[in-house]
Amino acid sequence: MTSAPTAPGAVTVRVPAKVNLELLVGPVRDDGYHDLSTVYQAVSLYDEVTVAPADAWGVSVSGALADGVPTDGDNLALRAARFLARRCDADPVHVSIRKGIPVAGGMAGGSADAAATLVALDQLWELDLERDELESVAAQLGSDVPFLVAGGTAMGSGRGELLAPVLARGTYHWVLALADGGLSTPAVYAECDRLRAGADVPAPVATPALMAALRTGDPHELAPQLTNDLQDAALSLRPDLAEVLSAGMEYGALGGIVSGSGPTIAFLVDGSEAGIDLAVALTASGVVRDVRRATGPVHGAQVLHHRVD
Ligand code: C5P
Repeated sequence: MTSAPTAPGAVTVRVPAKVNLELLVGPVRDDGYHDLSTVYQAVSLYDEVTVAPADAWGVSVSGALADGVPTDGDNLALRAARFLARRCDADPVHVSIRKGIPVAGGMAGGSADAAATLVALDQLWELDLERDELESVAAQLGSDVPFLVAGGTAMGSGRGELLAPVLARGTYHWVLALADGGLSTPAVYAECDRLRAGADVPAPVATPALMAALRTGDPHELAPQLTNDLQDAALSLRPDLAEVLSAGMEYGALGGIVSGSGPTIAFLVDGSEAGIDLAVALTASGVVRDVRRATGPVHGAQVLHHRVD
């Protein structure tokens, strides 16, 4: 990597959320992570991240979903910025995040902000990082970060950071049921370990039936293949989510699943009209805090504009 000149402008990047169509969790590894086999899909809930040259490192967060995002050195976007700056000897930036992705919701909002920050700084500092270099930096910041750079539909292995393409046809329609409060990802993995204590946990292997379903582009084929090994753990920590899952299915979802480590529930529906109907029914039912509609797959982190002052 070369050294970075400080450009005058501000760069804004839009980054999507993700759902895991399949999340198979293997045994815990020596480093504390779990071996995964997962299929990610990027969906059209977005954060917007703007980086601009500044006198000191800083981060600010706005939007209806901003509550609970750290605005100190724990912020993953700020960590990403400092991490990349150390590698290329760059000056401080201020990171502004507009949240459209639920916080601590199992949709990789923090990882998305880190991914967006890397893509924005690559542009601001004119680094021209190769894709594999960007993904390698991303992987050091979090297991989901490389996928949020890439977007689309992809398989993740290792701890989730090793990506391989998946052939997926069509556009899928999702209704996301947002919950009050968040769930801590490490706590959900720990609960998963507790629930499986003593059991023989096999190495995770992607399910051919899910891959076949994705090739058809038919949500009726995909729905029965949605799988999440963290679901029991999320429901154990948040028993109220079971009611949300059954309400969504009762109101016409083709399939429903805890998104990642939760507590967001992702419902797959049969097209955009069905999505509107389900969103209305879930809102009226009072069992959810809020709902969002989204489609997937969508692109990963993309530069929206680069203001040259
Ligand atoms: O990689 P990331 O920082 O996003 O992971 C957050 C936490 O989730 C980890 O500290 C770990 O507790 C848990 N995790 C895991 N196995 C994975 C991915 C995440 O145990 N493959």
